Amino acid sequence: MKTVRPEIDAPIGVFDSGVGGLTVIRSLLSLLPNEKFIYVGDTARVPYGTKSPETVRRYALEIAGFLLKSQVKMVVAACNTVSALAMDKLRLFLPVSVLGVIEPGARAALAASKHRRVGVIGTEATVRSRAYQQAINRLDDSIKVFSSPCPLFVPLVEEGWLGHAVTKQVAAQYLSPLLAKKIDTLVLGCTHYPLLKPVIQRVAGPGVELIDSADETAKAVRSRLEQDGLLLPPSRKRGGAEFFSSDDPAKFMFLGQKFLGSALRGVERIQLEGV
Ligand code: DGL
Repeated sequence: MKTVRPEIDAPIGVFDSGVGGLTVIRSLLSLLPNEKFIYVGDTARVPYGTKSPETVRRYALEIAGFLLKSQVKMVVAACNTVSALAMDKLRLFLPVSVLGVIEPGARAALAASKHRRVGVIGTEATVRSRAYQQAINRLDDSIKVFSSPCPLFVPLVEEGWLGHAVTKQVAAQYLSPLLAKKIDTLVLGCTHYPLLKPVIQRVAGPGVELIDSADETAKAVRSRLEQDGLLLPPSRKRGGAEFFSSDDPAKFMFLGQKFLGSALRGVERIQLEGV
């Protein structure tokens, strides 16, 4: 359904199960400094990665309902789990363009892989969906894709154990089956994993290129805005982001600064409703 012609001055809606999607907002703010963003983190119900597809879809639609009321001109699902499971439903429900992080990540992996052996790590729900595998093989079916869920990474990142010995051990355990397959590229298919880049790179070794889909997603958003005639020119600059969370704003601000790379000025608590 694409029935509404959005206003060029309208904000872009970005959402995630929690604070992780701020890694995507960070890339968006740097590539699209004229645009205004509205970010929703569903911290009351995070994690999504351990939940069933039906539940993830319902949550995603509830957030989409909030963004629709905010009259956004585009929606970006910054959460890999939502992008893996709910894109069809979101596109049916929303009258504006909807982008996820999987296709951009798949494109970046394809460009990086020299030996056509790609590893994908993500939440249990993302890996079970095989969404990255399908997206990569849609682009090139000769690429061998090997995936592995890394459920302990999300709590380790939220605990701030980015360089801890335990995190290194966990990474070694999770990555060993993928490294045994001689992957040359590894997609960090979860919003939290870019914060573990140093430890993952150390475990994977210099021969494995890590793919973080945030920058690639920002590029995809820019080209879609251009295509839709909705890219704000500098003369109409709005700039910046407003943040909303479904649970304690103080916790969102505390955790969020690690993902955003700078302090968050304000976060408003919202109540998400069924659609
Ligand atoms: N944002 C989620 C993702 O990228 C990770 C956290 C969660 O499980 O909700 O898949």
